[in-house]
Amino acid sequence: MQGYAIVTRLPFEAELQAIGVLPECRRSGAGLALMEAVLAKAKGWSSERLLLEVRVGNLSAIRLYKRSGFGEDGVRKGYYPPLPSQAAAGREDALLMSQVL
Ligand SMILES: CC(C)(COP(=O)(O)OP(=O)(O)OC[C@H]1O[C@@H](n2cnc3c(N)ncnc32)[C@H](O)[C@@H]1OP(=O)(O)O)[C@@H](O)C(=O)NCCC(=O)NCCS
Repeated sequence: MQGYAIVTRLPFEAELQAIGVLPECRRSGAGLALMEAVLAKAKGWSSERLLLEVRVGNLSAIRLYKRSGFGEDGVRKGYYPPLPSQAAAGREDALLMSQVL
């Protein structure tokens, strides 16, 4: 196994809860392949949109999402607690993203 993706089916939409690739397997297209599988699954459900939220500082994930067709919908201020490695920093904003399927 190189990675995982968790996606929730909602009445009209689907929401990506998490996506991750093992550190040693990153930057070789696994993330993009996982996202393509998520999009195919949500389209199979006839979901109208795929939604997600991501830490504004998670630039590698945001690049993957933009490359996969997601657009920015807005920002939810102070949504995430600080990462353990950045405990001195305050809470982090969430970037809301989606794409029509
Ligand atoms: C976000 C994440 C899933 C991306 O996974 P990934 O497998 O590295 O994704 P990809 O390989 O498709 O793309 C990553 C980069 O590698 C590049 N890449 C892809 N295939 C490549 C190849 N064969 N050779 C060189 N570079 C390549 C992509 O262009 C991309 O570059 P960019 O970051 O400059 O845009 C991964 O970084 C991760 O697991 N992060 C930790 C968990 C996380 O934050 N998840 C999101 C929130 S839940």
